Amino acid sequence: MALVRLATARTHYGSSFLCLRSESLPRCWSQIRAFSAAMSPPSSAVVYEHHGPPESVTRVVELPPVEVKENDVCVKMLAAPINPSDINRIEGVYPVRPHVPAVGGYEGVGEVHSLGSAVKGLSPGDWVIPSPPSSGTWQTYVVKEQSVWHKINKDVPMEYAATVTINPLTALRMLEDFGNLNPGDAIVQNGATSIVGQCIIQLARIRGIHSINIIRDRVGSDEVKEKLKGLGADEVFTESQLEVKNVKGLLANLPEPALGFNCVGGNSATLVLKFLRQGGTMVTYGGMSKKPITVSTSSFIFKDLSLRGFWLQKWMSSDKAKESRKMIDYLLGLTQEGKIKYEMELVPFSNFHAALDKALGKFGSQPKQVIKF
Ligand SMILES: NC(=O)c1ccc[n+]([C@@H]2O[C@H](COP(=O)([O-])OP(=O)(O)OC[C@H]3O[C@@H](n4cnc5c(N)ncnc54)[C@H](OP(=O)(O)O)[C@@H]3O)[C@@H](O)[C@H]2O)c1
Repeated sequence: MALVRLATARTHYGSSFLCLRSESLPRCWSQIRAFSAAMSPPSSAVVYEHHGPPESVTRVVELPPVEVKENDVCVKMLAAPINPSDINRIEGVYPVRPHVPAVGGYEGVGEVHSLGSAVKGLSPGDWVIPSPPSSGTWQTYVVKEQSVWHKINKDVPMEYAATVTINPLTALRMLEDFGNLNPGDAIVQNGATSIVGQCIIQLARIRGIHSINIIRDRVGSDEVKEKLKGLGADEVFTESQLEVKNVKGLLANLPEPALGFNCVGGNSATLVLKFLRQGGTMVTYGGMSKKPITVSTSSFIFKDLSLRGFWLQKWMSSDKAKESRKMIDYLLGLTQEGKIKYEMELVPFSNFHAALDKALGKFGSQPKQVIKF
């Protein structure tokens, strides 16, 4: 029965193909092949049939070929990351989630494998990314309409192409969209080791903006600080270093920041607020600690602080998103020039569950896990 449902699952990812009984699959495939010349190869996919703990609800299964219709592009996936939002989608706690059964993953890069008869402007071998990001990238072959795919330059390493949209674009937008930052200004952020955090440091530096960064306490924090400073961070503090009465006294010559970014919540968010100047704004875009944000009454009355939020998926559905492909090309260009880099670990697809355990934080702090197909 499981295979029946998984065959159905693939209908969400570009096909109307449905086999009724698992034991009839081979005959079913050959019948479909007789009617249609254009079929994708079978696809190995990370599928979940129920929401729940990702390590227990996900399985790697073989999905049958699907039809490549006239406007479709069949893409052989090369790499796709495991992002916190992928985990939340599988857990069923993300505001938007695919119907189950579903294939995991939301961004990635692939190589065009075959094209529907009406597709123009793409050729086999081209590198493409789903843009805006789109569900179901954790599989070896994805079939979706041409409009989903954005052709990119092949000169960047595949792991950067696979991860360029969700995190670097969030960093870029947040720096642009919340007030006017000028060269010489400063921003403050927690979660500075995240990909978003590392991109904020580097994009800020390109604009002449200083960054004050907060990281979790850990063994080897000096090494992490040095790495972030190597990316252009002006100051990096562990949370425990900031358990002082006057955090701004630690800032030497940096100006008080008007803008702060929070992807952690709890005490770490309070520390961001402490750095902000009168009338400053904290933008929350993640909640890695799963703890709420507590704001003192005096922060509102005497400092007139503002709290905002950012969600890339909502931004992507706005008019401005039309320009997002240009922004992605810009970010990939910076990567190519070595102006943006971040830590990643490429993991063979066969080790998917080991990568998932790392992404779930079971072994402490880890670089971003990127599946290589
Ligand atoms: N709102 C949006 O549109 C949007 C878009 C993109 C990303 N995000 C959010 O941005 C955040 C970072 O994403 P990413 O992909 O860049 O992250 P990432 O590279 O996967 O890194 C994970 C980050 O979370 C930190 N972390 C993990 N568990 C934590 C915990 N229990 N308490 C405190 N910190 C913890 C890690 O710190 P250590 O180094 O100390 O382990 C690391 O900085 C996530 O919350 C993600 O959902 C939001």
